[in-house]
Amino acid sequence: MNNQRLDKFISGQLNMTRKNAKNDIRHGYVTVNSKKLTDPSAVINTESADITYKGEKINYKKYVYILLNKPSGILSASNDKTRRTVVDLVPKELKRQGLFPVGRLDKDTTGLLIITDDGTFAHDCISPKKNIPKCYIAHLDGKVTKQMCEIFASGVILADGTVCKPAVLEPIDENFAKITITEGKYHQIKRMFGAVGLGVNALHRQSLGNLVLPETLNFGECVEMTEKQLKSALSQV
Ligand code: URA
Repeated sequence: MNNQRLDKFISGQLNMTRKNAKNDIRHGYVTVNSKKLTDPSAVINTESADITYKGEKINYKKYVYILLNKPSGILSASNDKTRRTVVDLVPKELKRQGLFPVGRLDKDTTGLLIITDDGTFAHDCISPKKNIPKCYIAHLDGKVTKQMCEIFASGVILADGTVCKPAVLEPIDENFAKITITEGKYHQIKRMFGAVGLGVNALHRQSLGNLVLPETLNFGECVEMTEKQLKSALSQV
């Protein structure tokens, strides 16, 4: 399982095309266990081999986990022909192939978004069966009433008849409210508020599981997640 072709390893870890990886290997830019290896199809052990590229050691990571404070106006996707995506915001040193956002925030939604290449982790974060709470602050075009909180608690029925899982709605002040859901249907929060007659002016994701978006992370900034943050993201609270 830890064995991989050298060209695949180089292109994956260094975010370059397979063709460029092959060329660089043939040019002798890669050493494995202190020896130049010029055969792109050579199979290496990714866990134990000591690999360098142009003299720099490659610190192998099976997966990468990045925390982004998503700004408004950016698409939650891996790539797009014309528009900027959240993966475009990942700095060069964390970039690699196969990155994707864990769930989608709407283009105008801001806040906590994880970007990874680990499909199992992503599935665990977003599966409704895992009950991971996602907490948002919503700016609404009206006031939240006690009755709305009760409707959210018992499960909102969306305009198309879809029944949502129970959610926690807490008014903050004026037209702001905190909402916690454990699933992620398309435009879910906007549609939930729509079902009780409120429009959403702005939406910001504050937390996922026990992981709270750090206040020090500005809009558009990314950091690599710590082990502790990874565990927090998957906790059911
Ligand atoms: N619900 C929405 O309506 N939009 C988001 O971006 C996230 C949850």
